[in-house]
Amino acid sequence: MKAVILAGGMGTRLLPLTRLLNKHLLPVGKLPMICYGLHRLQEAGITDILLVTGRQAAGSFTDFLGSGQEFGVSLTYRIQEEAGGIAQALDLAKPFIGDDRKFIVLLGDNLFEEPLKPHIDAFTRQPDGAMVLLKQVPDPHRYGVPVFDYNGKIERIDEKPADPQTDHIVTGIYMFDDTVFTHITEQAPSHRGELEITDVNNAYAAKNKLEYSQIHGWWTDAGTFESLLEAANKLIGTVP
Ligand code: DAU
Repeated sequence: MKAVILAGGMGTRLLPLTRLLNKHLLPVGKLPMICYGLHRLQEAGITDILLVTGRQAAGSFTDFLGSGQEFGVSLTYRIQEEAGGIAQALDLAKPFIGDDRKFIVLLGDNLFEEPLKPHIDAFTRQPDGAMVLLKQVPDPHRYGVPVFDYNGKIERIDEKPADPQTDHIVTGIYMFDDTVFTHITEQAPSHRGELEITDVNNAYAAKNKLEYSQIHGWWTDAGTFESLLEAANKLIGTVP
């Protein structure tokens, strides 16, 4: 199975640090942030990886990661010319995914304590559709928040709701079948002018094809100063 790591975007919540360096190259403990996601995929046996990033950062990524050989993976790169949203960045992966029926998408600022393989194996057994990984957090309003139906299935996801109905949130790893690219073309930009991954997931949910798995270990997206510091403290001793 292939994977796509999304490492574009503006990193505005981490300005002025991200004026100099792409968010995913900022140090987390002893390593640049991007290394942790790469490791989680590599240890799950996923080595054919597309990295999507912005034009200014691309040279720094190729300088640091090269072909990926040193990290046990094979890297392909694509440029997202403007930060038009997670789903827009994902759409750039279409030629890379080719005829594959399923693949994994990882947001480059998401850091997981636990190995991802058990969840990826569960998705492999799922006939089609999509799977997201949920985590309980104290501040769900910062994330995509699932709304469950009476069977416990995800009915829809609300993006950053003011009044979340649960403390479970959707983390930034998504497992999709090949219909994802059709779902992306059916989306319109949101009020913030971006193609939202939550709208794509909701297209699966509307077809009753969005499954989920729970993660129990520590997790963070390192997109704010507080979460970046928390991640560094957590990961300083765990060089992959
Ligand atoms: O971290 C999990 C959350 O990620 C989910 O709970 C939300 O549902 C999901 O929308 C997303 O929310 P964020 O507001 O945290 O997304 P952010 O804009 O920070 O982008 C996350 C990653 O996606 C970032 O590390 C880089 C990549 N990205 C983002 C944009 C907007 C791109 O590659 N291109 C883009 O244009």
